[in-house]
Amino acid sequence: MDYSRYLINFDTDKLEKCYSDVVIIGSGIAGVYTSLSIDPKYSISILTKERVEISNSVLAQGGIAVSLDKNDSPESHLKDTLYAGAGLCNEDTVRVLVNEAAANIGRICDYGVEFDKNPNDKSELALGREAAHSTNRIIHAGDATGKEVCDKLIANATKRENIKIHEQIWVLDLLVKDNTCYGVLVFDENDNSYKAYYAGLVICASGGYGNLYKYTTNPDVATGDGAAFSFRAGAELMDMEFIQFHPTVLYHKENRSFLISEAVRGDGAVLRNGAGERFMHNYHELGELAPRDVVARSIFLEMQKTGDTNVFLDITHKDRDYLEKRFPTIFNTCLKYGIDMSKDYIPVAPAEHYCMGGIRTGVYGNTTVKNFYACGEAACNGIHGANRLASNSLLEGLVFGNRIGREAEEILCDKEPEMPRFVYNADRDKARTVAEAKRDITRLREAMTKHVGIIRNADGLYKALKVVMEIKDKIIERENASMYDFILQNDVMVSEIIIMSAIERRESRGAHYRSDYPEKNDVRWKKNIVKKLY
Ligand code: SIN
Repeated sequence: MDYSRYLINFDTDKLEKCYSDVVIIGSGIAGVYTSLSIDPKYSISILTKERVEISNSVLAQGGIAVSLDKNDSPESHLKDTLYAGAGLCNEDTVRVLVNEAAANIGRICDYGVEFDKNPNDKSELALGREAAHSTNRIIHAGDATGKEVCDKLIANATKRENIKIHEQIWVLDLLVKDNTCYGVLVFDENDNSYKAYYAGLVICASGGYGNLYKYTTNPDVATGDGAAFSFRAGAELMDMEFIQFHPTVLYHKENRSFLISEAVRGDGAVLRNGAGERFMHNYHELGELAPRDVVARSIFLEMQKTGDTNVFLDITHKDRDYLEKRFPTIFNTCLKYGIDMSKDYIPVAPAEHYCMGGIRTGVYGNTTVKNFYACGEAACNGIHGANRLASNSLLEGLVFGNRIGREAEEILCDKEPEMPRFVYNADRDKARTVAEAKRDITRLREAMTKHVGIIRNADGLYKALKVVMEIKDKIIERENASMYDFILQNDVMVSEIIIMSAIERRESRGAHYRSDYPEKNDVRWKKNIVKKLY
């Protein structure tokens, strides 16, 4: 793959330089919790592209999986995670996740996070159910769990003198020499300048790349930059072909990105096709509570069969008071669109939701680049395998953010700041206009949505690759003059990696389903696909 090493030409001697012990990219649960887990004697800069409260974590509705019930155990949580992951999870890493879950939940409760209590015993947390969990183990704060956790963690980080949150800072590239990371090159939207943020430890918690797709539950900031700048810097990406589509996203002409949490199905909602018939038991014995990839694919196939654009979620057997209290965000959002979920079926269709793949990391969040770590959706440590189990994502951000926090001392060990000079100068063509960049971004997203979605095949994947190559031919060594250029260049690179991995994996497993290779092939493909630029 031929890509320029850096998105822009620059010389750090001519840029404003900033230094902190740690730079964290991203202000979702993984980024902010990591900052709180690092010894306060270290200075930390959290860099976020938007305002601090805009992240994918904030939108997480369902909750956090943790085995708290007396009849539950980390072992049972492990088993469910491995089953959903369809043979590709790293069992040792999953064991860390499930064993360290409760302690991290305890820590965030100490930071003031409040989860719903069991109505029959207020000394316990209420435990909800979600797909592919063999028991009730989802703790939640109504249907706005991500917001509750992020609000409280951000409030704590804001009070810490050693943590500074810098908003509207776009990380363009990692500053890496001899496979060691010294900081990041950024574009600061506040004063329209490029800057170098140096640090002894750089942590990427920038989230996934849902916006490669036309319909996603992710906010606009979830573009492919984390994966792209890591790849350009020589880090490995893993499992990029596994992209999770959430089965039940509101299907309304004014809104196709609002999530209808799996917790609604966990609470007894059933899926119906356009004729009002239930269909999930025709596809899987667990019906509506089958693993997420199975439910999304079944809905897709059912829609193909009936020619409908959507199916329906029916929870009308529950009364209005209950629904309004248990799912206030969903209830009120539906009502805004004229849907009273206590009386009406909710129109839903699958949309992109979560990237299982990302920057390859070890069990301490370490990447193959020295002093560069990753956690949360940006990382791929083998927890999710081919398909993430519901409500394991916020948990992953907590457990591995905390592990990086504990490692920080070892990495930094009070060393003096190092700020080597970086210079990059490539011949570059003149920049494209914003309109040109936007048009190409749209074209790319349409190709990804059409050909690299829930069901794939070689023909479609090569069609998508052709679109990528046509756009790529036009962007190599272009001057990058706008945000849209940066997004486009990153998205093209990440799309190429996803498509190449999807072409390579000639089998169906978890979220990667190939109609031309519909079976799982453990003999050839029970392994991860890892991509590296050099
Ligand atoms: C949901 O509430 O359905 C989403 C939870 C998750 O993605 O784990």
